[in-house]
Amino acid sequence: MVAFPDLRLRRLRGTETVRSLVRETRLAPADFAYPLFVTHGRDVRRPIEPMPGCHQFSLDLLLPEVTEVAGLGIPAVLLFGIPEEKDPLGSGAYAEHGIVQEAVRVIKQAVPQLWVITDVCLCEYTDHGHCGVLEGDGVDNDRTLALLARTALSQVQAGADMVAPSAMMDGQVKAIREALDREGFLGTPIMAYAAKYASAFYGPFRVAAESSPRFGDRRGYQMDPANVRMALREVALDIQEGADIVMVKPALAYLDVIARVKERFNHPVAAYNVSGEYAMVKAAAANGWLDEQRATLEVLTAIKRAGADFILTYHAKEAARWLRGEE
Ligand code: PBG
Repeated sequence: MVAFPDLRLRRLRGTETVRSLVRETRLAPADFAYPLFVTHGRDVRRPIEPMPGCHQFSLDLLLPEVTEVAGLGIPAVLLFGIPEEKDPLGSGAYAEHGIVQEAVRVIKQAVPQLWVITDVCLCEYTDHGHCGVLEGDGVDNDRTLALLARTALSQVQAGADMVAPSAMMDGQVKAIREALDREGFLGTPIMAYAAKYASAFYGPFRVAAESSPRFGDRRGYQMDPANVRMALREVALDIQEGADIVMVKPALAYLDVIARVKERFNHPVAAYNVSGEYAMVKAAAANGWLDEQRATLEVLTAIKRAGADFILTYHAKEAARWLRGEE
């Protein structure tokens, strides 16, 4: 066996040229999908305080934003909607002219090559803020399924390229697949939030999407952060139900989960670099405690190295710019 002093691993680290030759993981703008928040009203471009650089957009101001995203070489956006009114059944989620449905129409009309993914969940649309229909103090899984299927169908009818169920109801992928197939949308893929954890790192998102539960928390349906074998069961089940892409969420504190899912299954794996992960980097950078560009690209590289085929990230635009050598 060759060992030191004959073997010296530093030989491959001497210059950027050789480091680049042996680099195992490379990031590109094509690795990203950019989440966007759409809201009612006109002329709205409202900063989201805990997510510096991100905004809620009204439909009329969405176009410049998505044009910029596409121009940076980012292939996809993920849409979240903030409806004008909320109710117990989250009816804004599946309204034919709901905020997300209208946003899809606007984007597909103007930038048809951009891949539009819609989040399928009720939490932004229910007045109680939970991800499904309430039964007492809990969420009624089976009654929620029909509404999630209706939501996905209405989004696809509006032109969405892919739907991403995130409510963590058992059977949601199957219910959505059946609804899409019944209406002839056989070619529309489903990206399942397969292993979605009950995470404190969603905090800033809930400000952005105005979707905090009014009482209790989501631990009755989202996964316990302590579990990884359970995540593999969730992924296996979603694949069985027809998921085309499986997602792990959050990403940074769950790199082991990403790696295990990648190793075990042959489906494409997405990872969601969530709002709290974004906020941590932004806050530290704003204080001068981190080199923002290096920290951001390191985080994204780590998520890809762990096994993500692509990353849903609020850093997408700035990272794309850095990777393209702009700024
Ligand atoms: C909807 C949903 C959430 C996120 C994505 N879809 C919030 C939640 O489950 O509370 C979080 C995304 C993020 O934090 O960036 N259920």
